[in-house]
Amino acid sequence: MRKVCRLGREVLDLLAAEVRPGITTDYLDELCHKLCIERDSYPSPLNYKDYPKSFCTSINEVICHGIPDQRVLIDGDIINLDVSLYHGGYHADLNETYYVGHKAKADPDTVRVVETARECLEEAIKVVKPGYLVRDFGAVIEKYAKSKGCSVVRDIVGHGVNTHFHSPPNVPHYTKNKAVGVCKPGMTFTIEPMVSLGKHQFVTWPDNWTITTIDGKKSAQFEHTLLVTETGVEILTARLPTSPGGPVRTPEDV
Ligand code: MF3
Ligand code: CO
Repeated sequence: MRKVCRLGREVLDLLAAEVRPGITTDYLDELCHKLCIERDSYPSPLNYKDYPKSFCTSINEVICHGIPDQRVLIDGDIINLDVSLYHGGYHADLNETYYVGHKAKADPDTVRVVETARECLEEAIKVVKPGYLVRDFGAVIEKYAKSKGCSVVRDIVGHGVNTHFHSPPNVPHYTKNKAVGVCKPGMTFTIEPMVSLGKHQFVTWPDNWTITTIDGKKSAQFEHTLLVTETGVEILTARLPTSPGGPVRTPEDV
């Protein structure tokens, strides 16, 4: 799991370095496929339940599972890159949302939704340790999102990830859920909160994959693959000092 997650981080970072106005998400998809193959890895999404591409690219009001296509990125977009790959019998799963160009960072609501999603994941990771109930992550996440005036998407959940792409437990991101499971050393799973500026409700496109907000307002997501250790948590897909993207906190970052 450590090795595949390190490879996943490499692939995500190389894709993120390409994000700029003028490129298409198909360009990123082709690159994702190549980067996986070069690492003796298979892109887990490709042909998974008939998913047609090598990873997911979710722009603006797309909550998740956006399919790469001829859409050209423009200054002011936000884009989530969701990379999953299979190497040596194990899957890694991670995603981040990035600002395209400068306009996105200049819009306060856009920064609020992206940074809130990032911080929701950070807050949830802080409480991971043996004995913690999986159902209790949602309260941490939703409380934080609400404090920033954002909503939490309820229907897509984190999951166990290991020799299977998606395994138990289900990891809901909302409060008062009834998820089964308790953190134990050696467990590997994802937390991947999706946070929206408006309503939490979604619609699914006729492509059966693309999930967008019902009101067209922006949504952002971050995901890590985590390992429960004897004393806490190891972020297997952790950012490196060289990783593109990262938080925007002050006007100087813009
Ligand atoms: N990577 C997504 C997740 O976080 C799963 C996408 S399934 C796909 O679980 F087929 F759309 F790739
Ligand atoms: Co996932």
